[in-house]
Amino acid sequence: MNPRGVYLNNAATTWPKPPEVAEAMYRFMTQGGANLARGSASSRDLSTMDMVLSCREELAKLFGGYSHGDPRYVTFTSNVTESLNLVLKGYLKPGMTVVTTSMEHNAVIRPLRRLEGQGVTVRVVTCSQDGTLPLDSFRDALSGGDLAVVCHGSNVCGTLQDLEAVAETCHRRSVPLVLDSAQTGGLEEISVSDLSIGALCFTGHKGLMGPQGIGGVVWSPWMAEACSSLIEGGTGSFSHEETQPSAMPDKFESGTPNLPGIAGLLAAVRWINSVGSQGHKGQGGGAQGAVTPGFAGDTGDRGIRRDGSQGIPWGGGDEPPVGGQRDLGHGAVRAGHRDQAGASLCPPGPQDPGYLPRRGIEVLGGVFQHPGGHTQRLGGPPGGLRG
Ligand SMILES: Cc1ncc(COP(=O)(O)O)c(C=O)c1O
Repeated sequence: MNPRGVYLNNAATTWPKPPEVAEAMYRFMTQGGANLARGSASSRDLSTMDMVLSCREELAKLFGGYSHGDPRYVTFTSNVTESLNLVLKGYLKPGMTVVTTSMEHNAVIRPLRRLEGQGVTVRVVTCSQDGTLPLDSFRDALSGGDLAVVCHGSNVCGTLQDLEAVAETCHRRSVPLVLDSAQTGGLEEISVSDLSIGALCFTGHKGLMGPQGIGGVVWSPWMAEACSSLIEGGTGSFSHEETQPSAMPDKFESGTPNLPGIAGLLAAVRWINSVGSQGHKGQGGGAQGAVTPGFAGDTGDRGIRRDGSQGIPWGGGDEPPVGGQRDLGHGAVRAGHRDQAGASLCPPGPQDPGYLPRRGIEVLGGVFQHPGGHTQRLGGPPGGLRG
């Protein structure tokens, strides 16, 4: 751990994780390690099955799964990007219309643009300058629509949509709602069954406090039924059949899953379920309060309302080159983004690109995989600084 460091990049991935997460992954690798449903019912085989089932149950509990948290309707994927691809490409067929917002991450807009090329109509509702979805325009756009996909919390500026109102609007128009909960899962209370959400897509490594490389979908049973699978293959079940099983959860889970990731996620979600979303958020909320005033001097009256991550306007100039992650000793920021991100927070005077890393401050600067949101929310040139 780095006692001098200030980690402000939780919207990219949370860190540090609860110690139980790494411990559970280590335990699985050293003491368990059996594959899922592909062994001889040894105690290690059973313990893997038990672990995977428990993780589904904990996620169904956290997200208010249908049928009293039926664990079969929790699917594991690698991340929310894969979850969104699975749901959007599995559900939308040529001739259908999907409604979305101008605040979507590339994990939504890129699959939709691809589907558009295949005959799906994409309607994008423009959000207001603070990133809020105008419900009247949304309701109008839903008319004749087949599916809606909405980002709950913006990764650019943290604006939260009024999920209850969004879900109610979709429900009234009989348009199924797909929710991108990347920035809010684990932090905001969400009940898919209470809100009649069609599919909630989550990622494990942000607010859920799990490791990277694990995510999933919490389905409504009818949406799981209506969606086709994205990949087919071995499921450890129905092995004598040449066609993909339609039974859940096997339908969407071909190939060996990320079992160490599920072990870590289970520990993380158990921890969240024990403290509650509000308790978990309360711990992060304290840090948020400390960060915001620190930024205020640099952002002026363009400071950002934040619920999960912080965002401040980009210091100017063109989009920076995107580079890889660099270990900078006390700091790790995205190389390429780093210099101009640093400029935004530099005190007046000569800009010093090493300002943040030297102080052990880890942030993400640049365009957060969502160019539209920058123009939308922050105005001016695309880019920002987020922690
Ligand atoms: C709103 C939103 N959606 C989707 C994603 C993609 O997440 P992942 O890389 O875990 O698939 C992110 C990541 O920052 C995000 O903020």
